[in-house]
Amino acid sequence: VVDIRKLYAQTGAFTYDPGFTSTASCESGLTFIDGDQGVLLHRGYPIGQLAENSSFMEVSYLLLNGELPTQDELTKFENTITRHTMLHEQLATFYRGFRRDAHPMAVMCGVVGALSAFYHDSTDITDPTQRMIASHRLIAKMPTIAAMAYKYSVGQPFLYPKNDLSYTGNFLRMTFGVPAEEYEVNPVVEKALDRIFILHADHEQNASTSTVRLAGSSGANPFACIAAGIACLWGPAHGGANEAALNMLHEIGRPERIPEFIARAKDKNDPFRLMGFGHRVYKNYDPRATVMQKTVREVFAALNVSDPVFEVALQLEEMALKDDYFVEKKLFPNVDFYSGVILSAIGFPTTMFTALFALARTVGWVAQWNEMISDPEQKIGRPRQLYTGPTQRDYVPVSQR
Ligand code: ACO
Repeated sequence: VVDIRKLYAQTGAFTYDPGFTSTASCESGLTFIDGDQGVLLHRGYPIGQLAENSSFMEVSYLLLNGELPTQDELTKFENTITRHTMLHEQLATFYRGFRRDAHPMAVMCGVVGALSAFYHDSTDITDPTQRMIASHRLIAKMPTIAAMAYKYSVGQPFLYPKNDLSYTGNFLRMTFGVPAEEYEVNPVVEKALDRIFILHADHEQNASTSTVRLAGSSGANPFACIAAGIACLWGPAHGGANEAALNMLHEIGRPERIPEFIARAKDKNDPFRLMGFGHRVYKNYDPRATVMQKTVREVFAALNVSDPVFEVALQLEEMALKDDYFVEKKLFPNVDFYSGVILSAIGFPTTMFTALFALARTVGWVAQWNEMISDPEQKIGRPRQLYTGPTQRDYVPVSQR
Protein backbone atom coordinates (compact mmCIF):
# COMPACT_ATOMS: atom_id res chain seq x y z
CA VAL A 1 0.00 0.00 0.00
CA VAL A 2 1.33 3.40 -0.99
CA ASP A 3 1.47 6.02 1.75
CA ILE A 4 1.11 9.19 -0.33
CA ARG A 5 2.48 11.54 2.31
CA LYS A 6 5.60 9.37 2.74
CA LEU A 7 5.92 9.23 -1.04
CA TYR A 8 5.95 13.03 -1.23
CA ALA A 9 8.70 13.14 1.34
CA GLN A 10 10.76 10.67 -0.73
CA THR A 11 10.23 12.18 -4.21
CA GLY A 12 11.93 15.43 -3.30
CA ALA A 13 10.71 18.99 -3.09
CA PHE A 14 8.84 21.11 -5.54
CA THR A 15 7.61 24.67 -5.09
CA TYR A 16 4.14 25.13 -3.65
CA ASP A 17 3.07 28.57 -4.82
CA PRO A 18 -0.71 28.99 -4.99
CA GLY A 19 -1.64 31.84 -7.33
CA PHE A 20 1.98 31.79 -8.66
CA THR A 21 2.85 34.87 -6.61
CA SER A 22 6.56 34.18 -6.83
CA THR A 23 6.98 31.79 -9.75
CA ALA A 24 8.39 32.91 -13.11
CA SER A 25 6.81 30.63 -15.70
CA CYS A 26 8.94 31.78 -18.64
CA GLU A 27 11.59 34.15 -19.94
CA SER A 28 10.21 37.06 -21.94
CA GLY A 29 11.64 40.10 -23.69
CA LEU A 30 8.33 41.91 -24.17
CA THR A 31 7.23 43.71 -21.03
CA PHE A 32 8.91 44.76 -17.81
CA ILE A 33 7.02 45.77 -14.66
CA ASP A 34 8.52 47.19 -11.49
CA GLY A 35 5.50 47.00 -9.21
CA ASP A 36 7.13 48.86 -6.32
CA GLN A 37 8.08 51.86 -8.44
CA GLY A 38 5.00 51.75 -10.69
CA VAL A 39 7.04 51.26 -13.87
CA LEU A 40 5.78 49.53 -17.04
CA LEU A 41 8.02 49.18 -20.11
CA HIS A 42 7.23 47.58 -23.47
CA ARG A 43 10.45 46.43 -25.15
CA GLY A 44 12.13 49.05 -22.93
CA TYR A 45 9.83 51.99 -23.75
CA PRO A 46 7.85 53.54 -20.83
CA ILE A 47 4.09 53.15 -21.17
CA GLY A 48 3.57 56.88 -20.54
CA GLN A 49 5.72 57.79 -23.57
CA LEU A 50 4.01 55.23 -25.78
CA ALA A 51 0.53 56.38 -24.70
CA GLU A 52 1.43 60.02 -25.31
CA ASN A 53 3.30 59.78 -28.62
CA SER A 54 2.56 56.48 -30.29
CA SER A 55 -0.40 54.70 -31.89
CA PHE A 56 -1.86 51.29 -31.14
CA MET A 57 -0.64 50.01 -34.52
CA GLU A 58 2.89 51.18 -33.74
CA VAL A 59 2.82 49.53 -30.29
CA SER A 60 1.46 46.35 -31.87
CA TYR A 61 4.38 46.31 -34.31
CA LEU A 62 6.78 46.94 -31.43
CA LEU A 63 5.42 44.08 -29.33
CA LEU A 64 5.37 41.64 -32.23
CA ASN A 65 8.71 42.56 -33.81
CA GLY A 66 10.83 43.90 -30.97
CA GLU A 67 11.61 47.36 -32.38
CA LEU A 68 9.62 50.50 -33.22
CA PRO A 69 8.88 50.55 -36.97
CA THR A 70 10.28 53.02 -39.50
CA GLN A 71 7.58 54.99 -41.34
CA ASP A 72 7.81 52.54 -44.24
CA GLU A 73 7.50 49.50 -41.94
CA LEU A 74 4.57 51.08 -40.12
CA THR A 75 2.71 51.82 -43.37
CA LYS A 76 3.28 48.24 -44.56
CA PHE A 77 2.11 46.84 -41.21
CA GLU A 78 -1.04 49.00 -41.24
CA ASN A 79 -1.78 47.87 -44.82
CA THR A 80 -1.31 44.23 -43.82
CA ILE A 81 -3.69 44.58 -40.89
CA THR A 82 -6.20 46.42 -43.08
CA ARG A 83 -6.17 43.55 -45.61
CA HIS A 84 -7.22 41.08 -42.90
CA THR A 85 -10.14 42.91 -41.23
CA MET A 86 -12.95 41.12 -43.09
CA LEU A 87 -14.54 38.01 -41.61
CA HIS A 88 -15.56 35.01 -43.67
CA GLU A 89 -19.20 35.62 -44.61
CA GLN A 90 -20.27 32.33 -43.00
CA LEU A 91 -19.15 33.64 -39.62
CA ALA A 92 -22.12 36.03 -39.72
CA THR A 93 -24.33 32.93 -39.71
CA PHE A 94 -22.39 31.59 -36.74
CA TYR A 95 -23.31 34.75 -34.75
CA ARG A 96 -26.99 34.07 -35.36
CA GLY A 97 -26.74 30.89 -33.28
CA PHE A 98 -26.41 32.96 -30.10
CA ARG A 99 -29.32 34.22 -28.04
CA ARG A 100 -30.22 37.71 -29.24
CA ASP A 101 -29.11 39.38 -25.98
CA ALA A 102 -25.95 37.26 -25.50
CA HIS A 103 -23.10 38.90 -23.58
CA PRO A 104 -20.48 40.10 -26.14
CA MET A 105 -17.76 38.16 -24.27
CA ALA A 106 -19.73 34.91 -24.64
CA VAL A 107 -19.97 35.61 -28.35
CA MET A 108 -16.28 36.49 -28.60
CA CYS A 109 -15.13 33.28 -26.85
CA GLY A 110 -17.15 31.29 -29.36
CA VAL A 111 -16.40 33.24 -32.54
CA VAL A 112 -12.64 33.52 -31.94
CA GLY A 113 -12.44 29.81 -31.10
CA ALA A 114 -14.33 29.08 -34.34
CA LEU A 115 -11.83 31.06 -36.44
CA SER A 116 -9.59 28.00 -36.66
CA ALA A 117 -12.38 26.25 -38.55
CA PHE A 118 -12.42 29.11 -41.08
CA TYR A 119 -8.67 29.70 -41.44
CA HIS A 120 -7.12 26.21 -41.59
CA ASP A 121 -4.34 27.60 -43.73
CA SER A 122 -2.72 29.51 -40.86
CA THR A 123 -2.82 26.88 -38.14
CA ASP A 124 0.57 25.29 -38.90
CA ILE A 125 2.39 26.56 -35.82
CA THR A 126 5.76 25.11 -36.91
CA ASP A 127 6.00 27.66 -39.76
CA PRO A 128 6.99 31.18 -38.58
CA THR A 129 5.35 32.78 -41.65
CA GLN A 130 2.05 31.05 -40.92
CA ARG A 131 2.33 32.06 -37.27
CA MET A 132 2.73 35.70 -38.29
CA ILE A 133 -0.22 35.48 -40.72
CA ALA A 134 -2.39 34.03 -37.93
CA SER A 135 -1.22 36.82 -35.59
CA HIS A 136 -2.05 39.52 -38.17
CA ARG A 137 -5.43 37.92 -38.79
CA LEU A 138 -6.26 37.92 -35.10
CA ILE A 139 -5.19 41.55 -34.53
CA ALA A 140 -7.04 42.68 -37.65
CA LYS A 141 -10.26 40.74 -37.14
CA MET A 142 -10.74 41.42 -33.45
CA PRO A 143 -12.34 44.90 -33.97
CA THR A 144 -14.71 43.40 -36.56
CA ILE A 145 -15.57 40.52 -34.22
CA ALA A 146 -16.12 42.82 -31.21
CA ALA A 147 -18.19 45.33 -33.19
CA MET A 148 -20.35 42.52 -34.61
CA ALA A 149 -20.85 41.12 -31.09
CA TYR A 150 -22.10 44.56 -30.06
CA LYS A 151 -24.34 44.99 -33.12
CA TYR A 152 -25.80 41.55 -32.52
CA SER A 153 -26.52 42.33 -28.85
CA VAL A 154 -28.46 45.49 -29.78
CA GLY A 155 -30.23 43.94 -32.77
CA GLN A 156 -28.64 46.16 -35.43
CA PRO A 157 -27.23 45.04 -38.81
CA PHE A 158 -23.50 44.32 -39.06
CA LEU A 159 -21.28 46.87 -40.77
CA TYR A 160 -18.37 45.77 -42.97
CA PRO A 161 -14.95 47.26 -42.26
CA LYS A 162 -14.12 50.49 -44.08
CA ASN A 163 -10.41 50.29 -44.48
CA ASP A 164 -9.56 53.86 -45.38
CA LEU A 165 -10.19 54.61 -41.69
CA SER A 166 -7.61 54.04 -38.96
CA TYR A 167 -7.67 50.78 -36.97
CA THR A 168 -9.52 52.50 -34.12
CA GLY A 169 -11.66 54.76 -36.34
CA ASN A 170 -12.80 51.69 -38.26
CA PHE A 171 -13.79 49.98 -35.02
CA LEU A 172 -15.76 53.05 -33.85
CA ARG A 173 -17.64 53.17 -37.16
CA MET A 174 -18.42 49.42 -37.17
CA THR A 175 -19.73 49.78 -33.60
CA PHE A 176 -21.68 53.02 -33.71
CA GLY A 177 -22.31 53.55 -37.43
CA VAL A 178 -25.58 52.66 -39.16
CA PRO A 179 -25.76 51.26 -42.74
CA ALA A 180 -26.41 53.86 -45.45
CA GLU A 181 -25.54 56.75 -43.11
CA GLU A 182 -22.22 58.58 -42.96
CA TYR A 183 -20.39 58.09 -39.66
CA GLU A 184 -17.96 60.80 -38.75
CA VAL A 185 -15.17 59.65 -36.44
CA ASN A 186 -14.53 62.17 -33.64
CA PRO A 187 -10.70 62.56 -33.67
CA VAL A 188 -10.47 63.12 -29.88
CA VAL A 189 -12.53 60.02 -29.17
CA GLU A 190 -10.49 58.07 -31.75
CA LYS A 191 -7.23 59.18 -30.10
CA ALA A 192 -8.56 58.42 -26.59
CA LEU A 193 -9.72 54.94 -27.55
CA ASP A 194 -6.47 54.24 -29.39
CA ARG A 195 -4.64 55.22 -26.19
CA ILE A 196 -6.85 52.90 -24.12
CA PHE A 197 -5.89 50.11 -26.53
CA ILE A 198 -2.18 50.95 -26.00
CA LEU A 199 -2.64 50.85 -22.22
CA HIS A 200 -4.18 47.37 -22.46
CA ALA A 201 -1.86 45.92 -25.12
CA ASP A 202 0.31 43.74 -22.88
CA HIS A 203 1.05 43.21 -19.20
CA GLU A 204 3.54 40.34 -18.92
CA GLN A 205 2.33 37.06 -17.36
CA ASN A 206 -1.15 38.08 -16.15
CA ALA A 207 -3.83 35.38 -15.85
CA SER A 208 -5.11 35.54 -19.44
CA THR A 209 -1.64 35.72 -21.01
CA SER A 210 -0.51 32.79 -18.89
CA THR A 211 -3.64 30.97 -20.08
CA VAL A 212 -2.74 31.67 -23.72
CA ARG A 213 0.81 30.41 -23.13
CA LEU A 214 -0.36 27.31 -21.29
CA ALA A 215 -2.90 26.47 -24.00
CA GLY A 216 -0.29 27.16 -26.69
CA SER A 217 2.33 25.04 -24.96
CA SER A 218 0.43 21.91 -26.01
CA GLY A 219 0.69 22.97 -29.66
CA ALA A 220 -2.95 24.12 -29.88
CA ASN A 221 -3.68 26.44 -32.79
CA PRO A 222 -3.47 30.22 -32.16
CA PHE A 223 -7.20 30.88 -32.58
CA ALA A 224 -8.01 28.29 -29.90
CA CYS A 225 -5.32 29.77 -27.61
CA ILE A 226 -6.67 33.31 -27.92
CA ALA A 227 -10.21 32.05 -27.26
CA ALA A 228 -8.84 30.52 -24.01
CA GLY A 229 -7.31 33.93 -23.14
CA ILE A 230 -10.63 35.68 -23.77
CA ALA A 231 -12.42 33.23 -21.46
CA CYS A 232 -9.91 33.89 -18.67
CA LEU A 233 -10.01 37.65 -19.17
CA TRP A 234 -13.78 37.67 -18.66
CA GLY A 235 -13.50 37.15 -14.87
CA PRO A 236 -14.23 40.12 -12.55
CA ALA A 237 -10.81 39.85 -10.86
CA HIS A 238 -9.14 40.43 -14.26
CA GLY A 239 -10.63 42.04 -17.40
CA GLY A 240 -14.14 42.17 -15.98
CA ALA A 241 -12.97 44.64 -13.32
CA ASN A 242 -13.67 47.80 -15.34
CA GLU A 243 -17.29 46.77 -15.77
CA ALA A 244 -17.45 45.99 -12.04
CA ALA A 245 -15.70 49.27 -11.16
CA LEU A 246 -18.18 51.39 -13.09
CA ASN A 247 -21.13 49.47 -11.63
CA MET A 248 -19.65 50.09 -8.17
CA LEU A 249 -19.24 53.84 -8.84
CA HIS A 250 -22.88 54.00 -9.96
CA GLU A 251 -23.93 52.09 -6.85
CA ILE A 252 -22.05 54.56 -4.64
CA GLY A 253 -23.80 57.29 -6.61
CA ARG A 254 -22.76 60.36 -4.61
CA PRO A 255 -19.65 61.39 -2.65
CA GLU A 256 -21.45 61.31 0.74
CA ARG A 257 -21.77 57.52 0.43
CA ILE A 258 -18.05 56.87 -0.16
CA PRO A 259 -17.11 56.31 3.54
CA GLU A 260 -19.76 53.59 3.79
CA PHE A 261 -18.18 51.71 0.84
CA ILE A 262 -14.64 52.20 2.13
CA ALA A 263 -15.75 50.75 5.46
CA ARG A 264 -17.28 47.76 3.66
CA ALA A 265 -14.07 47.17 1.66
CA LYS A 266 -12.11 47.06 4.94
CA ASP A 267 -14.56 44.76 6.71
CA LYS A 268 -13.19 41.20 6.52
CA ASN A 269 -16.68 39.77 7.08
CA ASP A 270 -17.92 41.52 3.95
CA PRO A 271 -16.74 40.07 0.60
CA PHE A 272 -17.01 43.52 -1.01
CA ARG A 273 -13.78 44.96 -2.51
CA LEU A 274 -13.16 48.33 -4.09
CA MET A 275 -13.19 47.33 -7.75
CA GLY A 276 -10.43 48.96 -9.80
CA PHE A 277 -8.22 49.02 -6.70
CA GLY A 278 -5.25 46.81 -5.93
CA HIS A 279 -3.01 44.78 -8.17
CA ARG A 280 -1.01 41.60 -7.87
CA VAL A 281 2.16 43.30 -9.10
CA TYR A 282 1.75 47.06 -8.58
CA LYS A 283 2.30 48.10 -4.99
CA ASN A 284 2.34 51.71 -6.17
CA TYR A 285 0.15 53.77 -8.51
CA ASP A 286 -0.52 51.81 -11.73
CA PRO A 287 1.11 54.05 -14.39
CA ARG A 288 -1.76 53.23 -16.75
CA ALA A 289 -4.29 54.68 -14.28
CA THR A 290 -2.49 58.06 -14.42
CA VAL A 291 -2.94 58.21 -18.22
CA MET A 292 -6.54 57.03 -17.91
CA GLN A 293 -7.44 59.77 -15.45
CA LYS A 294 -6.05 62.43 -17.82
CA THR A 295 -7.89 60.88 -20.78
CA VAL A 296 -11.25 61.12 -18.95
CA ARG A 297 -10.88 64.91 -18.86
CA GLU A 298 -9.95 65.09 -22.56
CA VAL A 299 -12.93 62.98 -23.64
CA PHE A 300 -15.37 64.92 -21.45
CA ALA A 301 -14.09 68.21 -22.92
CA ALA A 302 -14.29 66.94 -26.53
CA LEU A 303 -17.81 65.55 -26.11
CA ASN A 304 -18.89 68.43 -23.89
CA VAL A 305 -20.23 66.00 -21.29
CA SER A 306 -19.68 65.39 -17.62
CA ASP A 307 -20.56 62.43 -15.44
CA PRO A 308 -21.12 62.58 -11.69
CA VAL A 309 -19.48 59.15 -11.33
CA PHE A 310 -16.14 60.73 -12.30
CA GLU A 311 -16.40 63.04 -9.29
CA VAL A 312 -17.26 60.01 -7.13
CA ALA A 313 -14.20 58.19 -8.56
CA LEU A 314 -11.84 61.11 -7.88
CA GLN A 315 -13.07 61.52 -4.31
CA LEU A 316 -13.02 57.78 -3.68
CA GLU A 317 -9.41 57.63 -4.80
CA GLU A 318 -8.49 60.60 -2.61
CA MET A 319 -10.17 59.15 0.49
CA ALA A 320 -8.85 55.62 -0.02
CA LEU A 321 -5.29 56.82 -0.49
CA LYS A 322 -5.48 58.59 2.89
CA ASP A 323 -6.90 55.55 4.65
CA ASP A 324 -4.47 53.39 6.68
CA TYR A 325 -5.95 50.13 5.37
CA PHE A 326 -5.24 51.02 1.72
CA VAL A 327 -1.88 52.63 2.55
CA GLU A 328 -0.64 49.62 4.53
CA LYS A 329 -1.79 47.09 1.93
CA LYS A 330 -0.44 49.29 -0.87
CA LEU A 331 -3.75 49.33 -2.71
CA PHE A 332 -3.85 51.95 -5.48
CA PRO A 333 -6.17 52.53 -8.44
CA ASN A 334 -5.38 50.17 -11.31
CA VAL A 335 -5.95 50.60 -15.06
CA ASP A 336 -9.60 49.62 -14.69
CA PHE A 337 -10.58 52.27 -12.19
CA TYR A 338 -11.07 55.08 -14.74
CA SER A 339 -11.38 53.21 -18.04
CA GLY A 340 -15.09 52.45 -17.53
CA VAL A 341 -15.86 56.16 -17.06
CA ILE A 342 -14.26 56.98 -20.43
CA LEU A 343 -15.77 54.05 -22.30
CA SER A 344 -19.19 54.89 -20.98
CA ALA A 345 -18.79 58.56 -22.05
CA ILE A 346 -17.88 57.36 -25.56
CA GLY A 347 -21.12 55.37 -25.61
CA PHE A 348 -20.06 51.78 -24.93
CA PRO A 349 -22.39 49.78 -22.67
CA THR A 350 -20.66 48.10 -19.72
CA THR A 351 -21.06 44.68 -21.36
CA MET A 352 -18.61 45.80 -24.07
CA PHE A 353 -15.84 46.90 -21.71
CA THR A 354 -14.15 43.52 -21.40
CA ALA A 355 -14.61 42.91 -25.13
CA LEU A 356 -12.57 46.08 -25.77
CA PHE A 357 -9.91 44.86 -23.36
CA ALA A 358 -9.78 41.54 -25.26
CA LEU A 359 -9.44 43.39 -28.55
CA ALA A 360 -6.41 45.32 -27.29
CA ARG A 361 -4.81 42.46 -25.33
CA THR A 362 -4.91 40.24 -28.43
CA VAL A 363 -1.68 41.96 -29.49
CA GLY A 364 0.08 40.98 -26.26
CA TRP A 365 -1.36 37.47 -26.44
CA VAL A 366 -0.16 36.79 -29.99
CA ALA A 367 3.24 38.40 -29.32
CA GLN A 368 3.72 36.25 -26.20
CA TRP A 369 2.49 33.15 -28.00
CA ASN A 370 4.95 33.76 -30.87
CA GLU A 371 7.78 34.32 -28.40
CA MET A 372 6.98 31.04 -26.67
CA ILE A 373 6.63 28.93 -29.83
CA SER A 374 9.88 30.34 -31.28
CA ASP A 375 11.80 29.25 -28.18
CA PRO A 376 13.67 26.01 -29.01
CA GLU A 377 13.57 25.07 -25.29
CA GLN A 378 9.78 25.38 -25.13
CA LYS A 379 8.01 22.59 -23.24
CA ILE A 380 4.39 21.81 -22.51
CA GLY A 381 3.29 23.67 -19.35
CA ARG A 382 2.51 21.15 -16.68
CA PRO A 383 2.30 22.38 -13.06
CA ARG A 384 2.38 19.88 -10.19
CA GLN A 385 0.11 19.83 -7.13
CA LEU A 386 0.12 18.97 -3.45
CA TYR A 387 -2.28 16.04 -3.16
CA THR A 388 -4.57 16.31 -0.11
CA GLY A 389 -7.02 13.46 -0.79
CA PRO A 390 -7.24 10.01 0.83
CA THR A 391 -4.22 7.69 0.81
CA GLN A 392 -4.48 4.46 -1.20
CA ARG A 393 -7.49 2.28 -0.21
CA ASP A 394 -9.35 -0.75 -1.60
CA TYR A 395 -12.45 -0.60 -3.72
CA VAL A 396 -15.65 -1.57 -1.83
CA PRO A 397 -18.55 -3.03 -3.88
CA VAL A 398 -21.66 -0.84 -3.83
CA SER A 399 -23.66 -3.48 -1.93
CA GLN A 400 -21.19 -3.29 0.98
CA ARG A 401 -20.98 0.54 1.32
N1 ACO B 1 -10.48 46.29 -1.84
C1 ACO B 1 -10.29 45.95 -0.53
N2 ACO B 1 -9.31 45.15 -0.11
C2 ACO B 1 -8.48 44.63 -1.04
C3 ACO B 1 -8.61 44.94 -2.41
C4 ACO B 1 -9.66 45.80 -2.79
N3 ACO B 1 -9.84 46.13 -4.07
N4 ACO B 1 -7.65 44.30 -3.11
C5 ACO B 1 -6.94 43.60 -2.22
N5 ACO B 1 -7.43 43.81 -0.96
C6 ACO B 1 -6.90 43.26 0.30
C7 ACO B 1 -7.29 41.80 0.46
O1 ACO B 1 -8.49 41.66 1.18
C8 ACO B 1 -6.11 41.25 1.20
O2 ACO B 1 -6.25 41.60 2.56
P1 ACO B 1 -5.67 40.60 3.73
O3 ACO B 1 -4.19 40.58 3.53
O4 ACO B 1 -6.09 41.28 4.99
O5 ACO B 1 -6.32 39.27 3.50
C9 ACO B 1 -4.90 42.05 0.66
O6 ACO B 1 -5.48 43.29 0.19
C10 ACO B 1 -4.19 41.37 -0.50
O7 ACO B 1 -5.17 41.01 -1.46
P2 ACO B 1 -5.06 39.71 -2.36
O8 ACO B 1 -6.41 39.38 -2.92
O9 ACO B 1 -4.35 38.63 -1.59
O10 ACO B 1 -4.08 40.22 -3.50
P3 ACO B 1 -3.94 39.61 -4.91
O11 ACO B 1 -2.64 40.07 -5.43
O12 ACO B 1 -4.21 38.14 -4.91
O13 ACO B 1 -5.15 40.29 -5.74
C11 ACO B 1 -6.43 41.70 -7.11
C12 ACO B 1 -5.02 41.32 -6.65
C13 ACO B 1 -7.20 40.44 -7.59
C14 ACO B 1 -6.32 42.64 -8.31
C15 ACO B 1 -7.18 42.37 -5.93
O14 ACO B 1 -6.49 43.55 -5.55
C16 ACO B 1 -8.65 42.70 -6.28
O15 ACO B 1 -9.50 41.84 -6.13
N6 ACO B 1 -8.93 43.95 -6.75
C17 ACO B 1 -10.23 44.31 -7.18
C18 ACO B 1 -10.47 43.77 -8.61
C19 ACO B 1 -9.70 44.54 -9.64
O16 ACO B 1 -9.66 45.76 -9.66
N7 ACO B 1 -9.10 43.78 -10.58
C20 ACO B 1 -8.35 44.37 -11.72
C21 ACO B 1 -6.93 43.99 -11.67
S1 ACO B 1 -6.06 44.81 -12.96
C22 ACO B 1 -6.37 43.93 -14.37
O17 ACO B 1 -6.72 42.80 -14.40
C23 ACO B 1 -6.24 44.69 -15.60
